Amino acid sequence: MVIKKPRIVIIGAGMAGLTAANKLYKSGAKNGAFEVCVVEGGNRIGGRINTSEFGGDRIEMGATWIHGIGGSPVHKIAQEIGSLESEKPWECMNGFLDDPITIDENGYVLNPSLVDPISNLFFSLMDFAQGKKKSVVPDGIEENLGGITSVGSFLEKGLESYQKLKSRNEVNGCGDWNRKSLEKSIFAMHENTQRTFTAANDLHNLDYIAESEYVMFPGEEITIAKGYSSIIESLASVLPSGVIQLGKKVHDIEWHPECGSNSDSDSDSGSGSDPGSGSRPVKIHFLDGTTMSADHVIVTVSLGVLKAGIADSDSDSNSGIFKFNPPLPSYKIEAISRLGYGVVNKLFLKLSPDPDLDRFPFLQMVFHKSEDQLKNPKIPWWIRKTSSLSPIYEKSSVLLSWFAGDEAHKLEALPDEVILDEVSTTISSFLSFKKCNGNAIKSCKFDKVLKSRWGSDPLFMGSYSFIAVGSSSKDMDSLAEPLTNGSSPLQILFAGEATHRTHYSTTHGAYFSGLREANRLLEHYNCIDV
Ligand SMILES: Cc1cc2nc3c(=O)[nH]c(=O)nc-3n(C[C@H](O)[C@H](O)[C@H](O)COP(=O)(O)OP(=O)(O)OC[C@H]3O[C@@H](n4cnc5c(N)ncnc54)[C@H](O)[C@@H]3O)c2cc1C
Ligand SMILES: *[C@@H]1O[C@H](CO)[C@@H](O)[C@H](O)[C@H]1NC(C)=O
Ligand SMILES: *[C@@H]1O[C@H](CO)[C@@H](O)[C@H](O)[C@H]1NC(C)=O
Repeated sequence: MVIKKPRIVIIGAGMAGLTAANKLYKSGAKNGAFEVCVVEGGNRIGGRINTSEFGGDRIEMGATWIHGIGGSPVHKIAQEIGSLESEKPWECMNGFLDDPITIDENGYVLNPSLVDPISNLFFSLMDFAQGKKKSVVPDGIEENLGGITSVGSFLEKGLESYQKLKSRNEVNGCGDWNRKSLEKSIFAMHENTQRTFTAANDLHNLDYIAESEYVMFPGEEITIAKGYSSIIESLASVLPSGVIQLGKKVHDIEWHPECGSNSDSDSDSGSGSDPGSGSRPVKIHFLDGTTMSADHVIVTVSLGVLKAGIADSDSDSNSGIFKFNPPLPSYKIEAISRLGYGVVNKLFLKLSPDPDLDRFPFLQMVFHKSEDQLKNPKIPWWIRKTSSLSPIYEKSSVLLSWFAGDEAHKLEALPDEVILDEVSTTISSFLSFKKCNGNAIKSCKFDKVLKSRWGSDPLFMGSYSFIAVGSSSKDMDSLAEPLTNGSSPLQILFAGEATHRTHYSTTHGAYFSGLREANRLLEHYNCIDV
């Protein structure tokens, strides 16, 4: 029998999969040490990186920021390939627009003397939770912060003790229901931004301890002038054509655990599509009925896809297609179910040309909390947790808002006309009274919308992972552990943002995880490299 080259199949052509393919190709496959192939269920590469166009502007439907340029491998690639400059303007080219104007839902401009102390309190609390600061400003708040399990309850207690402290220090401050209630609403605006950062629908489900274990790179946060997809294209460009196969949706993965552990999977059915597959331990079954055999498979699908795959194991529904046969060991199933994974969506709106409107402001939106009589009945629930709306760069006619959780799901389900209509009503209510930059904005109209759909797309089932209350970053390590058996090691390896315990939820976390699994295989085959 002819001795075959080991075959490595990578599932998913996102950041993790393409980083692994790039590394394996350059360090082994190119010289014929093994075969590498990438199978991708969608009809494009990039995964949760999806650079697009809207209203004449370049925009990002998925990953947007390099979260800290100091030490970021994504920043390094972007620099090397000249992606950080462009003639054309791009989303957030000058970072966040400064000078936000904060308005309540009835159109009252909120004075910075009211807004700033609450914003500072919020940032101070988050710095404390993230371990960046040892104390909270103003003093005396930390005392009430023991026994906390979630970021949500931490923030809640923080605001509560701030308001107590303040009433105590003020002569006639107590009983100021209106002010306190407004402070709560301003605080909630920041909480809603935090929901989009973490993809947690409810911050009470975001683990408090894990918050301080997360690692951010130092330095500026920037966007990529030529688009995030330029990074993806650069990683893919070293691979010969044919290595990446699009439109290949994996249905299930047949593997061979140690004898004795409930393996009664069918023996080789001898499918003609893949000659000589008998000696390779793993067999991938695609939705189109074809199969592919492999010595090693690197799984990079999202945590959402893995969750759907372990749920209702007999359902053949399209969303639950990603199965293992036999099923994953229980330690892995438990880690997958405990970890958090949520939806975040971006909504882009194109402003109708309006001679009265010189430029749309960076609008911070304060919605009144449910107990308030000040609630505007015309504003639908799914907009009530949106914290801002702003042009994607100065003077762009394209505006952007971020949505998380239930509201992000709802956004996907709504027809564009309804979105246009309800957003216009809401924004008119915000802009009803005040003047911005000297211009009175009575109402504003939008021509069209574009929204991402990360929650309902069966190839993603959401946006990114977080450490939910009841799980810990150890679960991410468990997720990263390869499946192996004595006589055929490293059958299935796991990469993807959710397998990185300190950089999860980011493109660089996905990058590091792809590199980690490529290196694991290179070491296994003694292809000593860096
Ligand atoms: C709205 C949004 C904003 C974000 N903002 C940022 C940001 O500003 N900065 C940042 O660093 N990160 C951001 N992220 C996160 C970042 O995009 C991801 O962490 C990263 O891209 C994940 O890469 P990955 O390779 O792990 O997974 P993916 O990109 O999901 O790649 C997995 C691939 O597997 C494929 N696949 C799934 N199921 C199957 C199947 N059954 N068969 C075959 N193929 C399959 C998918 O199509 C996909 O291409 C954002 C994400 C979203 C959604
Ligand atoms: C390991 O996998 C191979 C398939 O490659 C299978 O034949 C064998 O029985 C498995 N070994 C053990 C110890 O379970
Ligand atoms: C990716 O972008 C295209 C627009 O270019 C959009 O149609 C598609 O829905 C996006 N994918 C997701 C999952 O949002």
